Amino acid sequence: MTVFITGVAGFVGTNLAAALLERGERVVGFDNFCRGSEANLAGLRTNPDFMFERVELTDIAAYRSALARAHEADPITEIWHMAANSDIPAGIADPHVDLGDTFMTTFNTLLLMREFGVGTIAFASSSAIYGDLGERPLVENIGPLFPISNYGAMKLASEAAISAAVESDLERALLFRFPNVIGVPATHGVILDFVRKLQATPGCLDVLGDGTQQKSYLHVEELVDAMLHIRDHDNARLSCYNIGAADDGVTVRFIAETVRDRVSPQAEIRYGEGNRGWVGDVPKFVYSIDKLLALGWRPKLGSAAAVRRAVDQVVEQETTQ
Ligand SMILES: NC(=O)c1ccc[n+]([C@@H]2O[C@H](COP(=O)([O-])OP(=O)(O)OC[C@H]3O[C@@H](n4cnc5c(N)ncnc54)[C@H](O)[C@@H]3O)[C@@H](O)[C@H]2O)c1
Repeated sequence: MTVFITGVAGFVGTNLAAALLERGERVVGFDNFCRGSEANLAGLRTNPDFMFERVELTDIAAYRSALARAHEADPITEIWHMAANSDIPAGIADPHVDLGDTFMTTFNTLLLMREFGVGTIAFASSSAIYGDLGERPLVENIGPLFPISNYGAMKLASEAAISAAVESDLERALLFRFPNVIGVPATHGVILDFVRKLQATPGCLDVLGDGTQQKSYLHVEELVDAMLHIRDHDNARLSCYNIGAADDGVTVRFIAETVRDRVSPQAEIRYGEGNRGWVGDVPKFVYSIDKLLALGWRPKLGSAAAVRRAVDQVVEQETTQ
């Protein structure tokens, strides 16, 4: 069975590819390295069942010919669409970023699935599709959905396009709504940001917002494990799952202090104002994973333990580079 992964050189893509190879599946992956890197692929490149091509997925002609080559060599049975813009503020500053990397990559993937007759898609969606629903627990069937970032809007539009494609031609679609995912190889995110800031200026750490923003954090190894569990145990033609820790999460203050204690214990932490890190940031959300629990999967780490583990890993990544 050959699985195709978009965004394979990114944070989640590399971990997913490693897990699928470990299960004995063949993996073909594309990435344009806008955020992922060749270095992230080092561990995968040594496996003869892994193939990679550098491809710009918004360029449908380039995408089509690369996929045709891969599909001819070894028919692709399933597509895991992980490529997207992962810089939410960049997408607020310029809406074209998410139109291209978050939506058009999905749109083009669906077009090519139809052309090549690939029936199954697994999609990396996001808690950002829910917008800011305050204290209301985010369950999969809550609505109406009004995202507050272009990133969230283009993820929701991608889910909608996938749903329509299931009606017309796909056999199966799995929509995974991730919370904040942490671990290595870190390409973006609050932990990497704090580690880099403290390495550059060890005396102080400037934090966006007042540090009270509270979210649930999931380690990437658990995320991959949960996605594969859903793939193995859910039989619906179209299904969607929140994946996250089984708690209410931790604050940005907790993360800042954990990174400070690990990297530069004497540093002063300077908080900004307001409870939003940036426009489009959702300050607090309560993420329900009841549907996933009912399917028999449970995270081993809580948000705090996942953060501590990821901080150690990201510090190691940044000091050995
Ligand atoms: N990491 C998280 O906390 C998180 C949370 C919610 C959703 N997600 C989603 O999970 C998926 C993976 O995220 P990640 O954290 O690994 O991000 P990432 O940036 O590390 O990986 C995305 C990869 O896609 C590639 N890519 C982007 N646009 C492309 C294009 N036009 N053509 C080819 N390649 C392109 C990038 O180079 C990168 O390697 C994304 O869809 C993201 O939106 C991630």
